[in-house]
Amino acid sequence: MGKLEGKVAVITGGNSGIGLATAKRFVEEGAHVVITGRREKELKEAAVLIGKNVTTVTADVTRLEDLDRLYAVVKEKHGHIDILFANAGWGEVALLETATEAHFDKTFDLNAKGTFFTVQKSLPLFKDGGSIILTSSVANVRGDIAFSAYAASKAAVRCFARGWAMELKDRKIRVNSMSPGPIETPALEKVGLTAEQVEQAIAHFASQVPLGRRGKPEEIAAAVVFLASDESSYVTGVDLAVDGGMAQV
Ligand SMILES: NC(=O)c1ccc[n+]([C@@H]2O[C@H](COP(=O)([O-])OP(=O)(O)OC[C@H]3O[C@@H](n4cnc5c(N)ncnc54)[C@H](OP(=O)(O)O)[C@@H]3O)[C@@H](O)[C@H]2O)c1
Repeated sequence: MGKLEGKVAVITGGNSGIGLATAKRFVEEGAHVVITGRREKELKEAAVLIGKNVTTVTADVTRLEDLDRLYAVVKEKHGHIDILFANAGWGEVALLETATEAHFDKTFDLNAKGTFFTVQKSLPLFKDGGSIILTSSVANVRGDIAFSAYAASKAAVRCFARGWAMELKDRKIRVNSMSPGPIETPALEKVGLTAEQVEQAIAHFASQVPLGRRGKPEEIAAAVVFLASDESSYVTGVDLAVDGGMAQV
């Protein structure tokens, strides 16, 4: 029997990278998953890869009406939620001196506001005793050049886990954040660097990881299964670092 047998899980950003690897693993553990992302074609391809027990909803987490539509589908199909992995996120590089208002707003809209309302709007459907996992980042405690808005938005996510663990404790809903280090996903190709700069950034980040390499999405998925399942029944409010030691030593 799987660790998530019969559970209903919603995963935002489930068509790529960490979210997709986690959706695949959740289904292997017996869950039914509802995955979202903005790109419909990638969502359909992800569903084929996952193979069974998967529903796709094209939705942008920065748009509250999209979140309402997502949860209407979940309600109609399953009637409730046991697990929410609020994972959609990312950002672009920008130095303080030249960053625009649009850069700041886009970063916080996606990582902070998107996560906030993804969780808020799930609550009417949430089963007492469920688990909420938020994707923060190793960046939430670091000072990386050109990543300050991203890092601050991910620090907000870490703070959400603390506050919501308290707000939802009477419903026995556990809330934790999970902070990946540098992971082998398409994310770094989307931050606004040239291909050469991406290669340099990969080498730079890997050199700062005690384990000496980038992590694999499947290694993050394993940690998320732990936080989603009863294996972590006495864990709430934490920020679980899955970073090869990057921010720990
Ligand atoms: N990779 C790393 O090194 C790393 C490190 C620390 C933290 N993280 C965090 O891990 C999470 C997953 O990233 P990843 O590395 O797996 O990158 P990824 O492969 O690029 O996945 C990002 C996911 O988020 C979705 N997404 C982006 N903007 C969205 C929006 N406005 N509405 C809905 N979905 C949206 C994307 O789908 P669409 O494009 O189709 O919308 C995609 O499914 C992010 O929160 C990221 O900040 C990643």
